[in-house]
Amino acid sequence: MKQAILFAALAPLASLTGVQAKPVDSWITTIWDDFKEAVDCGSCQALLGGLKLVAGLGESFFEDVLTGVCDISGAEDSDVCSGIIANEGPAVYYSLKNLKLGSHTAKTFCASLVGLCDFPAVRPYSLSFPSPKPPKSRPPPSGKPPIKVVHFSDTHVDLSYETGSNFDCTKPICCRVYTEEDAPGNTSSPCGSWGNSKCDPPQRLQQSMMDAITSLNPSFSIYTGDVVAHDVWLVDKTEVLSDFNATFSTMESTLGLVYAALGNHDAAPLNLFPSTNTPSTYNPQWAYDALTTYWLSLTNNNQAISTAKKYGSYSALHKTTNLRIISYNSIFYYKYNFFSYEEPMPFDPDNQLAWLISELSAAEAASERVWLISHIPSGNVDHFRDHSHYFDQIVQRYEATIAGLFFGHTHTDEFQISYSDYDHRSWDNAVAMGYVAPSMTPTSGPPSFRVYEIDPVTFGVLDYTQYIANITDLEGEPEWVPYYSAKKDYGGKLDVSVSVEEELTPAFWHNVTVAMEKDGGLFENFWARRTRGFEVPACEGDCVSNEICALRGADAQFSCVERKPGFSFEKRGERRDLLGKRFQPECNHAGMAPLLAKIAHRASLAREVEG
Ligand SMILES: *[C@@H]1O[C@H](CO)[C@@H](O)[C@H](O)[C@H]1NC(C)=O
Ligand SMILES: *[C@@H]1O[C@H](CO)[C@@H](O)[C@H](O)[C@H]1NC(C)=O
Ligand SMILES: *[C@@H]1O[C@H](CO)[C@@H](O)[C@H](O)[C@H]1NC(C)=O
Ligand SMILES: *[C@@H]1O[C@H](CO)[C@@H](O)[C@H](O)[C@H]1NC(C)=O
Repeated sequence: MKQAILFAALAPLASLTGVQAKPVDSWITTIWDDFKEAVDCGSCQALLGGLKLVAGLGESFFEDVLTGVCDISGAEDSDVCSGIIANEGPAVYYSLKNLKLGSHTAKTFCASLVGLCDFPAVRPYSLSFPSPKPPKSRPPPSGKPPIKVVHFSDTHVDLSYETGSNFDCTKPICCRVYTEEDAPGNTSSPCGSWGNSKCDPPQRLQQSMMDAITSLNPSFSIYTGDVVAHDVWLVDKTEVLSDFNATFSTMESTLGLVYAALGNHDAAPLNLFPSTNTPSTYNPQWAYDALTTYWLSLTNNNQAISTAKKYGSYSALHKTTNLRIISYNSIFYYKYNFFSYEEPMPFDPDNQLAWLISELSAAEAASERVWLISHIPSGNVDHFRDHSHYFDQIVQRYEATIAGLFFGHTHTDEFQISYSDYDHRSWDNAVAMGYVAPSMTPTSGPPSFRVYEIDPVTFGVLDYTQYIANITDLEGEPEWVPYYSAKKDYGGKLDVSVSVEEELTPAFWHNVTVAMEKDGGLFENFWARRTRGFEVPACEGDCVSNEICALRGADAQFSCVERKPGFSFEKRGERRDLLGKRFQPECNHAGMAPLLAKIAHRASLAREVEG
């Protein structure tokens, strides 16, 4: 480790002193040793120093060293190591080269990616609002008959899915023919016709789900992103464009009006959506362009969608009502977007927050109602805390105009509440409600979609019903059935009952979390519903209070999530098998970042073994 610190100090001189003469193999050993010695924030900075030094020797040298380290760690199959590093290596190389050891950016890197630094405190930033907050509050329900709106997310269709192929492979996703042994007829673990929990689903599951949605006759739908499959070590532009076409064409021919948001998988390489501070060669403009074309035909709103080409965000007024839907790019604030580790980290990448303020301000002046839709929940552990806080300040300023927030990404069924006073979180200072819908891809529970009952005037959520289909060993057509309903299955457990006409307000949801504290059974229901009953992990004691705190944590710094060494991809109390090569591919479990965490974890095991 001392060696790495020394090297880091000498980094600028590296190319002059002949250090590059050291062969790749020797660097692989050095960096692997640095991983083994990385046990705290200081040694994580030293590891970054070592990596910076290698980066100083050139991009391809850097990628060769990292690939070698991945191989000796045994974190993934060799082809997965080299594929992920070929895809995302350039971004890691770029950010490491610019990183300043010990900076806010570097600490955020070590906190978010390998869990070895505490999350640095949120940096103060004063947002500028064109007018002070008016003395307005959320409008009461109109009493008019509700409309239905469907919310679905994280479809991740795998166009290479093969029925009968092996579901028990060593790759991040299975149900593809990687080897002769995986072929239908050759494997004793055949994938069914509609999907498997170790695989992304076939297109026919998506068609079935969209047909089921259509038969419920919704007014329109919202889709919170992630079209592309989890073959993150193979995915390229051609595959992304085919995936876009398959998914959006099906939406268009089946669902009609859909408002969509950008997902972290919706480009190749995944996760990498740089701001304009980064050289434009890294910009996935082709993905923004393609998405803009599909979103334009799905919403038929030229004026609004023209802004999407910039960075995948738009603001669209619904054709026949006063509902404005603002879809914004949350990947700018995503801890696995390596380009966001800028030095210094911008307070407002590409001024998107300023744009949100101007849209909300105009909506307030025009007495419109607003829904904010995006992929990554702003209170999630994957979201930078700084930007979570700034975003929450905006939500609080416009709480009377924002009727709801809608997210995906986690693949699980969750929610997040915003408060005007996080030190005294209570039903009477709960100000906004973020709904997190679970995924269609069945990797963390049965495929699912949600049907909201919406007030046609205020656009408040009056109720929702979650639908699921059991696809295990299914021969016939999937049956999409109601799983639970919010008002009956949560509201029915409260002391104060909520009538059919009433909205599910932020106060209502706060009261649900209070009821969970008193009634362990209600918390267990919520906990099981997260994964639709699939492989429900144990959660008791601190886990329960932390999870309830997370529901009350739309401002991420108050969500009670603490960094855990080597477990940065462990989600909310859920312990996964890090030793096994396979782990459930979720959106935040894909690509370079979990690979680094896995390498760090395997290094810590190697350290223990070597004593
Ligand atoms: C099944 O495996 C055998 C060899 O084990 C191979 O010859 C054959 O081509 C495989 N079948 C398929 C469809 O790949
Ligand atoms: C796009 O998707 C549609 C519907 O699935 C299909 O008919 C068409 O061939 C696809 N086009 C391309 C260019 O892949
Ligand atoms: C799903 O279907 C399979 C096969 O019919 C059955 O064994 C299983 O119990 C079902 N799961 C649920 C949760 O109903
Ligand atoms: C929440 O609970 C408080 C205290 O029991 C109660 O006064 C309030 O009416 C409840 N609000 C809703 C929306 O259920």
